[in-house]
Amino acid sequence: MAKKATETTTVKKTTKKPAAKVLPAIEKTSKTGKLPEIKVVKDKKIVFLGSEAAPFIATGGLADVLGSLPKALAQNEHLDVSVILPLYGNINKDFKEKFKFLTNFNVSVSWRLQYAGVYYYEHQGVKFYFIDNEYYFKREGNIYGFYDDGERFAFFSRAALDTIARLNIYPDILHCNDWQTAASIVYLKGMYYGDEKFRKIKSVFTIHNIEYQGIFGMETYGDVFGFPESINNFVEFNGSVNLMKAAIEMTDIVSTVSPTYAEEIKNSYFAHGLESIINRNANKLYGILNGIDIDYYNPETDAYLFKNYSVSDLSGKAVCKAELQKMLNLPVRADVPMIAIISRLVSHKGLDLVRSAIESLLTQDVQIVILGKGEIAYENFFEHISHCYSGKCVTVIAFNQDLSRKIYSGADIFLMPSKMEPCGLSQMIASRYGTVPVVRETGGLNDSIKAYTGVKGNGFTFHDYNAHDMLYVINEAIRAYKDEKVWKDVQNRVMTTDFSWSVQAGEYEKLYDK
Ligand code: GLC
Repeated sequence: MAKKATETTTVKKTTKKPAAKVLPAIEKTSKTGKLPEIKVVKDKKIVFLGSEAAPFIATGGLADVLGSLPKALAQNEHLDVSVILPLYGNINKDFKEKFKFLTNFNVSVSWRLQYAGVYYYEHQGVKFYFIDNEYYFKREGNIYGFYDDGERFAFFSRAALDTIARLNIYPDILHCNDWQTAASIVYLKGMYYGDEKFRKIKSVFTIHNIEYQGIFGMETYGDVFGFPESINNFVEFNGSVNLMKAAIEMTDIVSTVSPTYAEEIKNSYFAHGLESIINRNANKLYGILNGIDIDYYNPETDAYLFKNYSVSDLSGKAVCKAELQKMLNLPVRADVPMIAIISRLVSHKGLDLVRSAIESLLTQDVQIVILGKGEIAYENFFEHISHCYSGKCVTVIAFNQDLSRKIYSGADIFLMPSKMEPCGLSQMIASRYGTVPVVRETGGLNDSIKAYTGVKGNGFTFHDYNAHDMLYVINEAIRAYKDEKVWKDVQNRVMTTDFSWSVQAGEYEKLYDK
């Protein structure tokens, strides 16, 4: 445990002054400490907490969801929807310049007192609050993966609650997402309940991926998180602090991002050690399939595309394919099936299956494009294969929005053979662009893509985690591709499947009503 005596020195070292340098153009509130009124006149207030949200900062599917679900909910005139995010140094400057400084205060991170500034921006009907502390969030490169991630998100989780109090925006529902904001639920239920306004708040905790739990050594329990001894039972798991476990135990409702995944995580194969915790909280567990923002992913208007197109006129898609082939130095041919993978290159995405099957696939007349980054072993493997099969296979190691849209629109078949997939959005995005998904029947892939039978279905699917089964359905897709009439029918079904939030947001509304 840290001794009191160290307090002053550490505060001096790490406490930050208001971020005058990052956001020079922003007008500040008067020095009297009087806060601007944020008007809330709706029936129900929802505050989302998350570690990333499009379009401000995105590294994965969580950002898509936090960029689109709040927006969809805000269309309901009875809901007042806010999102609180960290003010990362790498949020686009064009946005940052528009943020308005609201207030600043100090936040307790256990025995530390850390500066928190709050900035505000309204976007698509949603109120966004950004928590500023340059020491924690102005870092080079990635937004996670630092030695002190526990402390960074302990700070954020607490600062978010303090922002709610400071701005008097107490919600009816606090909706936290993944381990980075799990500590907010622990603070809310375990430390802030003495305050009646906090006590009234109900909480939803959404698991986007149970693999990442926020596990830290027990030495962080008091020293970093400042949790009281009385809640040790909730927080500790297998001799460590486990934030996701704590949130599951303490929240009012747990949700996850597809009905199939909600069932799967009761099972040790999927639960990464938390199956007993999930099972004993199963009475408050719900699975709601994510949607996507169909305005953002729209082949008719998407400015990233070489040419726009629609389900009724796919001629633009042929242009997208030819231009993509040119761009990637592949032979420009309309008749060759182009198979795409756009994915984080990590093992749960099913890349071991691809690794075993790719060479036998490449002996056929196909083109394969891989876009993503992640584990070095996969990066090296796919780069090596592309080198061996140049002119047929291209790998781009990157997370690149522009190129991803060009691939989503230019390719014919989208391969997503995940071993585990809580929801998966890429299969929905690919569908929107008429690129036919081939998926494994797990998690949200199982709930969103049904096998094409000639009379129904919107893709090609296989069940067992087996490379031969995968190869078999890829070949089924290729056969369909070669029959123009069949392919037109498949594409039509794929493109007209409704993956918008219009239905699913309603499921969240029902959950909030509970
Ligand atoms: C995580 C999951 C992914 C899901 C996304 C959004 O990234 O791995 O399956 O689609 O969160 O919920």
